[in-house]
Amino acid sequence: MSTPLLLDTDPGCDDALAIVFALEHADIDLVGLTSIFGNAPTADTTRNARSILELFDRTDVPVAAGADEPLLVDLDTAEHIHGPGGIKGDLPEPTTATEPVSVPAAQFIVDQAREHEGELTLAAVGRLTNVALALALEPDLPDLLDETLIMGGSAFEAGNVSPLASANFWGDPHAARRVVRDTDPTVVPLDATQHSGLPAAWIEGLARDAPRSGAVYEWATYYSQDDLDRYGIETAAIHDVMALAGLVDDDLLEMEAHFMEVGADDGLAQGALAVDVQGTRDEDPNGRVALGVDADRYRELVTDTIDRAIE
Ligand code: BDR
Ligand code: CA
Repeated sequence: MSTPLLLDTDPGCDDALAIVFALEHADIDLVGLTSIFGNAPTADTTRNARSILELFDRTDVPVAAGADEPLLVDLDTAEHIHGPGGIKGDLPEPTTATEPVSVPAAQFIVDQAREHEGELTLAAVGRLTNVALALALEPDLPDLLDETLIMGGSAFEAGNVSPLASANFWGDPHAARRVVRDTDPTVVPLDATQHSGLPAAWIEGLARDAPRSGAVYEWATYYSQDDLDRYGIETAAIHDVMALAGLVDDDLLEMEAHFMEVGADDGLAQGALAVDVQGTRDEDPNGRVALGVDADRYRELVTDTIDRAIE
């Protein structure tokens, strides 16, 4: 049976690959996309989400536009990593076929959770603002969902926007703190994602003259350049895909249940994910966190799925 999935996303090169993975994999039923700022402002990520659906002929998937700003901190975007407008490549301008639904993302999340009560996975792979707003609208949201899945945080791995924080938590630390505290989440942090890039040979083998594989090539290569420049890692760590890959393969991620909290202070503690692996606070676990991955198995799953999508 396939998992109904609502993806909250800020496309974004790795988000784009996660959308393609979710559209293609038989064990996932993508019921909608909600957009959020992060890799670019929300107007851009909403347009990108729609363009990706159109490129892959999936205009049946509804899009809901998300919040424009973090709860308290200033907006911070990452076009320098993902490309102009938040994504590398020339995606087609979206048409009326993917016009966003009339309700904002937070309401759409609540509506979908009620419609698929007890079955829906809400995967958030951008800033957590929409999810925090949905929680404010419906405090019982976690009980309506099967799972809240988050790509974000860096528990023991170095952060990518500060020594302690990943972009998704740094960019709205108050939302991240609330969502991690209150949803019993599954968290996939940089600890799992950062060193598991796609094989360079696979990326090089992608056809560049066909629209879909050409787009995948652009996303993977452009995103890889930043990892190479900053960390000397040769292929792109496509963080967001890994969160979804764990949904379809139980043996992929090394999950541990721990007490976790996100720092919402300013300064270097902003957006830091603290995972109490030693139980120093004597608190019950409030979620699960992926601290490792079977990287070869992951690469095979992702390349096979994306190959099918661009055939
Ligand atoms: C995360 O931040 C975003 O820029 C990426 O799309 C990913 O979700 C990685 O830290
Ligand atoms: Ca993302």
